[in-house]
Amino acid sequence: MQNKQKNKKINNNPIGIFDSGFGGLTVMSAINKALPLENLIYFGDTAHVPYGTKSKDAVIKFSKEIVAFLIEHKVKLIVIACNTASAFALPILQKTLKVPVIGVIEPGSKAAVHVSKNKKIGVIGTEGTVQSGAYLKEINKIKKTNVYQQACPLFVPLVEEGWTNSEITNSIVQKYIKPLLNKNIDTLVLGCTHYPLLRKVLEKNINKNIVLIDSAKATTHEVKNVLNQKSLLADGKQKNFLKFYVSDNPKKFKTIGRRFFSKKISDVKKIEME
Ligand code: DGL
Repeated sequence: MQNKQKNKKINNNPIGIFDSGFGGLTVMSAINKALPLENLIYFGDTAHVPYGTKSKDAVIKFSKEIVAFLIEHKVKLIVIACNTASAFALPILQKTLKVPVIGVIEPGSKAAVHVSKNKKIGVIGTEGTVQSGAYLKEINKIKKTNVYQQACPLFVPLVEEGWTNSEITNSIVQKYIKPLLNKNIDTLVLGCTHYPLLRKVLEKNINKNIVLIDSAKATTHEVKNVLNQKSLLADGKQKNFLKFYVSDNPKKFKTIGRRFFSKKISDVKKIEME
């Protein structure tokens, strides 16, 4: 046992995390809580947000540019902390990069299949994520399941506006959720980085037996597993850091980002993208 521990390799290089903007900070938060010894670099593509309404080609192009930046920073693993970018860019990034790449859709799907008893799973996400059918395919790859999808394009601006607990949000939630409730789902995947912030209002409007799946938590579990399997865990002997980069408006990122991240965001650098 002692020998095994002695031989265990460590790697203090950072984990690279990216998203279209602020939302991926929910994933970063979960990773930071579960793996406090890890150095983390976050890139929020605030110049191009939202990805949810963009084409597949555009999202792949942005993702490739961000990943090139992260690789320059010697990241040991990349987390695509955005559902839309995971839906569109994960396969191509996994094929082309040498470091492991983890998206949020596979872990979220696994968690949903594990929890659902009646095999009726609802998925809410951006237009891009829903149109890609990524959750539908991933869930059915694991187990044959009835998947009911609903795009909720108004949720992202509501969350960014800070309206997570208002009357208007409540009505919009009811409207989006109704078709899924009619299908008798027992599990609902929060298939967008912003939706964990709507947990309370969602819970108010669904039956108590429906389990909400937060992809951020499921993804963190996957990150931990992969680091472990590949002997890439940090040992915390170096002073560890959290770094933030954006493609536009660092000041706004600090303010709005605070709603998505458990700690104060102090140092945000702007990087020029094409
Ligand atoms: N981060 C995106 C996602 O999880 C939501 C915001 C956007 O549309 O860019 O799909």
